[in-house]
Amino acid sequence: MLSRIVRPTLTAARNFSTSQQNNYKVTVCGAAGGIGQPLSLLLKLNPLVTELNCYDIAPFTPGVACDLSHIETASKVKGFAGQESLKDALNSADVVVIPAGVPRKPGMTRDDLFGSNASVVKTIFECASVACPDAIFCIITNPVNSCVPIACEVLKKANKLNPRRVFGVSTLDIVRANTFVGEMCGVNPKEVNVPVIGGHSGITIVPLFSRATPKVTIPADKLDALTKRVQEAGTEVVKAKVGHGSATLSMAYAGARFANSVMRGLKGESNVIECCYVQSDVTEVPFFANPVLLGKGGLEKNLGIGELNAYEKDLVSKAIPELKKEIAKGVDWVKSQ
Ligand code: NAD
Ligand code: LMR
Repeated sequence: MLSRIVRPTLTAARNFSTSQQNNYKVTVCGAAGGIGQPLSLLLKLNPLVTELNCYDIAPFTPGVACDLSHIETASKVKGFAGQESLKDALNSADVVVIPAGVPRKPGMTRDDLFGSNASVVKTIFECASVACPDAIFCIITNPVNSCVPIACEVLKKANKLNPRRVFGVSTLDIVRANTFVGEMCGVNPKEVNVPVIGGHSGITIVPLFSRATPKVTIPADKLDALTKRVQEAGTEVVKAKVGHGSATLSMAYAGARFANSVMRGLKGESNVIECCYVQSDVTEVPFFANPVLLGKGGLEKNLGIGELNAYEKDLVSKAIPELKKEIAKGVDWVKSQ
């Protein structure tokens, strides 16, 4: 006998008439790539997404959208290929997730991607400042530490900057820290939450194990190695993929988690907190990652960095000069254009 299948998308349709908004238009820029495809898949499965626009410069992007459109969820998927279709892809989007651009190869730093990816981000934000200036922007493209300042400068030039709506996605650092702590301490990683602050490159990634929930004890002789593993986890994947790109599947998971949190905030759910890289006055650098409360306007409240132990304070003091450099590089580059 056939059992009755209850599909999650029906929930979205039923909630359509309630006062809470449950239907969001999401555009993925870079949707045909290693991250973009599985990320679009996860968004197609998310009942909060009712329209999914897949944009990429790759000519086969409409094929990716066609493929996704056969999945039995209620959202409508459209594909957009080529820069001439960017404006249509972005038009009136609520949320824009951006994994467009080149990934690392072994031996490269994230900063080595600046030359290729700065102009990708600039082009997308110049168009977004016209097509969807009020969207929430989630930037995955590396180097995140410079790309978020680039995006903000471009929006500022167009008189459209709302810094509460521009996020650098550092969720993968939190996901990794949770996983590694879970493995080390024998706890389900799903139940672990390790805040990770600073930025998203090497020493700018600062995991706060002292603030993990539930409370965990990391043996003193393992703390350095665990910290380094989180800081170098991206490189671990780049090396393991031997020239075939960087993290894609775990990033798609992390990007979908962050986009879901953004939409939960937009629809007015309370207590939605994520660590992310945002314009900030929490430290001396103008962009910094730490826990923020997400809400109807995007960033509802910056929760700051909280109490740090001496080890973590030292990590932050090492991160700051590097962040300063990477932020200035992005800002100066836009000003020089
Ligand atoms: P990929 O090469 O597999 O895919 C990138 C896609 O972007 C391609 O389909 C390409 O056609 C598209 N693209 C290139 N230029 C474009 C443009 N101007 N407009 C629209 N689309 C464009 O790379 P990937 O593995 O998906 O990685 C994408 C980016 O995400 C890289 O910069 C990578 O370093 C970064 N990344 C960030 C994190 C993070 O934690 N924030 C994690 C992993 C990867
Ligand atoms: C990651 O952390 O996996 C990404 O930033 C990709 C990379 O280049 O390491």
